[in-house]
Amino acid sequence: MNNMIYIVWNEHNNLGINIIDEQHKGIVSLINSLHFSIVENYSKETLRPIADSLKNYTAIHFKTELYLLQKTKYPELQSHKKLHDQLSAITLRTTVEADNQGDPLILLKFLKEWWLNHINTEDKKYVPHILECLKKC
Ligand code: FEO
Repeated sequence: MNNMIYIVWNEHNNLGINIIDEQHKGIVSLINSLHFSIVENYSKETLRPIADSLKNYTAIHFKTELYLLQKTKYPELQSHKKLHDQLSAITLRTTVEADNQGDPLILLKFLKEWWLNHINTEDKKYVPHILECLKKC
């Protein structure tokens, strides 16, 4: 058994908005659980609940983030929302590809790259705006 964690949370991934950082860590934690379950293959029954939790928690996170963007009147809200909306379609496509190739790591690799890129590139764009608004609001 390998004791490595698939995605190691790095402090550089933090945005400085506590509720968002907590939720991002929660999503990463669920991806790590999914990875462990697949790699160790210890129980097929765990896969579905973890995948469902990841889907549901992602929906909670997107709602929270959009609430903050809306509340602070973030000008790029619609384009950010569009990126969120694209995730489920791309995940579905990647799941089919992973199934066809019999390699679930294709899906995990996609999730890892999508989330780390989204957090560090797209989410970081709204940070100055929200932090400025939180000081004034
Ligand atoms: Fe933290 Fe835009 O998702």
